[in-house]
This record gives sequence, structure tokens and C-alpha cells, in this order.
Amino acid sequence: MPQPHFLLVSYPIQSHINPSLQLAKHLIRIGVHVTFTTSISAGRRMTKVPAAQGLSFSPFSDGYDDGLKPGDDKNHYSSEFRRRSKEALSELIIAGENEGKPITCVVYSLLLFWAAGVAREHHIPSAVLWTQPATVFDIFYFYFNGYEAAIKDQDGADESKSKCLIKLPGLPPLATRDLPSFVTAANTDHLILSLFREQLEVLAGESDAKILVNTIDALEPEALKAIEKFKLIGIGPLIPSDGSLRADLFQCNSNDYLRWLDSKPKSSVVYVSFGSVAVLARQQVEEIARALLASGRPFLWVVRNQTARGEEEKEEDKLSCREELEQVGMIVPWCWQVQVLSHPSLGCFVTHCGWNSTLESLVAGVPVVAVPQFADQATNAKLVEEVWGTGVRVSANEEGVVERGEIVRCLDSVMDDGEKDGEVRKNAEKWKEIARETTMEGGSLYVNLKAFVDDVQGCRR
Ligand code: UDX
Repeated sequence: MPQPHFLLVSYPIQSHINPSLQLAKHLIRIGVHVTFTTSISAGRRMTKVPAAQGLSFSPFSDGYDDGLKPGDDKNHYSSEFRRRSKEALSELIIAGENEGKPITCVVYSLLLFWAAGVAREHHIPSAVLWTQPATVFDIFYFYFNGYEAAIKDQDGADESKSKCLIKLPGLPPLATRDLPSFVTAANTDHLILSLFREQLEVLAGESDAKILVNTIDALEPEALKAIEKFKLIGIGPLIPSDGSLRADLFQCNSNDYLRWLDSKPKSSVVYVSFGSVAVLARQQVEEIARALLASGRPFLWVVRNQTARGEEEKEEDKLSCREELEQVGMIVPWCWQVQVLSHPSLGCFVTHCGWNSTLESLVAGVPVVAVPQFADQATNAKLVEEVWGTGVRVSANEEGVVERGEIVRCLDSVMDDGEKDGEVRKNAEKWKEIARETTMEGGSLYVNLKAFVDDVQGCRR
């Protein structure tokens, strides 16, 4: 039996590259050699690939370097990108054969579904890596398998509709406001939805479709079993061990904020961050700023420096009360979030509920104020508030803006000094302990991953 040699191919954006690299680290730890590939432009631009024993990094050119227009996702779904990535995968598989280290499994980011076809051509098993919760995968699956009418809010999310609850197998009752933005009526022509449909068709063609999910078994026991046809395997939490995005990407080369945090009392600081993608409306930024001033608590606020992407910071984008804010807290263009969340001065995390941030807050045991923006974030916020009880979700006004008073109310309800019975903080501590046990030797991360490796080793086609 050849040594397990996995080929990991990551969709070329940070929120896929990070979990894929963490998966590689765990696979190496259980004796699997890993070849990791993504597109050169992402590999160079977005993250340092750690040189590790047992990991070879073999990026491929996606054409950006040869002048293919860099830009939106469509280039990652273009036929040119598909052609180049399929070619690269085949070359890596053939190279493995020639070097006597044959690839024994291909693990690919969801939506790079053409990788399954390349693996099949070479008689190699494959599996998807899904970097959001199992619950969101299930919602997409059921949307395409009999529940579209029940899920789609035909008349738009008016107040009565948003109260109507949708019951999907294995999932908690969901209101329209809890659904991923791609499946609500307004967005169903979104590119992601059509690609997800293609992905599910590829998986339906597999006799033993496997989806590796960056989640913890105990967080989503029912959601992981909800789809009979597929095997969803919890192999999380895959948390970045180093600065998740290169700080220089957002021109943040100083870590003065760590010394500033050291100077603050335990559980006193409000940490505010909306991930690497979301751009908040001007009015929403203003409401957050006014809420931080009104709450008077020390805060660390990540306001990404858009000029890092070559855009000029417009006058109107500048924070109106920056000087007053910097009397109370600290504003940075980027930080090492995983390190910040584990700092003893942290009191709570105001987050958009991107899945990586959500997992990181659970692992760190930090209560959250959930301010979802798009994609899976509303579903993650629902799980945080109503299933795991580790945070509260804000309510927006009719214009979709979360007002300063609502933000202050939510901050007070999760911070130590404001909470009636400490329920949220107790839950956050509970899940922190469960997450810690998950990543221990006998925890579900390694138990599930080892079982998966043994399974695919046994079924080399
Ligand atoms: C995107 C989508 O927006 C999100 O909904 C989906 O769940 C994953 O893909 P993103 O918006 O970037 O992700 O948010 P998130 O998933 O939270 O990932 C952000 C990553 O950047 C986290 O790993 C976080 O640790 C890191 N980060 C963020 C930093 O390292 N420093 C910062 O200052 C802010």
C-alpha cells in the first residue's frame, strides 16, 4: 500500500486557502504526504505557504500573470481557469506516479468540482473540502432537492414572511432572515448558486461522495447526517495558526495593538472586525463608531485599508469622529485575529459571522455580537444565538441599518458587567472546552480524519 499522498487543490481566495493549509497540517501529522496547489496569483498574493515537512507547494498559473484580467470571481470560473487548473492537476498526478509517490486522494475546494473528473480519469478517489458549516451545505442541497419553493421567500422578506419558519431535515427551524443570501428570492440568479448546482450534480454521480466539513461534530450533529446520499465528515476546527492573511496585504506592519491590549483590564475590550471581504455602507460604519463612543468601552476596530488594493481612500470614507474614537480605542487596518481573540483583555467580538471568525470565536471562548452581512453569515448568526447560545444577533431597522442604540444594547448584554445571568459567557466557555477536546488526540478531528484516510486508502480505484 503506497504511503498516503493527498493532492489538495484550493479555490484561490483566503477563506479557502487558510482552512486547506490547516487541513494539510493535520494530514501531515497523521502521516499523509501533501501536495498543495492553488493559483500562483493567490498563492503569492494572499498567504505565505508554510514550509513544512511533508508538504510540497506547487502553485499553477491561472493566467493572471500572463495578462488574464485579474478581477472578480468569474475569472475563477472561466473556461481558461478551468483548463489551466485541470492541466495542472493532471501534471501533478502524473508527476507523483513518475516519482514513485502516487497521489492516493484528491481533496478539492467546493466549486472546483472539475477536479473530481480529473481524479476519476486517473482512478483516484476524491473528496470536497467545504469551508462553511454543514448547516449551510444542507440548505443548498435541500434547495436543489425538493425544498426550493419552501425556502424561497416568494414575496420578499416582509415582516410576516420573515417570521415564517422553514423546516429542513436535520436543521433547526429557519426564518427567511436566517438563510444564506444566495437562496433568498432576490439573489437566485447568483453565479454561486448555479455553480453549487453543478457541484451537487458531480457529487450525485459519485457512488460514495465525501464532503470534509470545517466544523466540529458536537456543533452540528444532526446537520452532518441530514443528507443520506452524501457522507459529511466533521474535520474542524481548522483555525489559522499564523496571521491568517498576510498583514502587509492590508498595510498593517505593526503589532502595537498587542501591547495596547496588554494594558487593558481582563475581559474589558470590544473587538470589532468584518472579515476580509465585506465593505460596510457608510451609514453603518457611522452607527458602529457612535455606538463605540457611547459605550465608552475600550475597543480594537479593524477598518481595512482599501488603499491596500490600490484604491484611493475617498474623503467620505474617512471616519468622521476618528480623533474622538482614538481617545477610547484603537483602529487598525488588520491584525492577527486568532491571537487577538485569545488575549485575556477581550470581552466580546462584534463580527459579521464569517465562518472562520465564528469558529475562531468558539475556539477562543469569546462571546459575540453578530452583525451578519451576506452569504452564509445570517445562518451562522442564527446558530450562534439560538443553537449554541454564544452570542446575540443585532436587529436592523427598515433600511437594513443597525443603529447605535441597538449595538450598545447588544454589547451590554454580552459583556461581563452587563449580563444578567452570564448565560452567554458560560456557553462560550463550554464550547471553548469542547473545541479544545476536539483537537486532542482522541478528539473528533483526528478520529474522523484518520478514518477518512484509511477509507480512501482502501478504495484506490
Ligand atoms: C468569506 C465570507 O465572507 C464568509 O461569509 C465565509 O464564511 C468565508 O469566506 P471572510 O468574510 O473573509 O470570509 O470572513 P471569515 O470567514 O471570518 O474569514 C476572515 C479570516 O481573516 C479569519 O480567519 C480571521 O482570523 C482573519 N482576519 C480577519 C485576520 O487575520 N485579521 C483581521 O484583522 C481580520
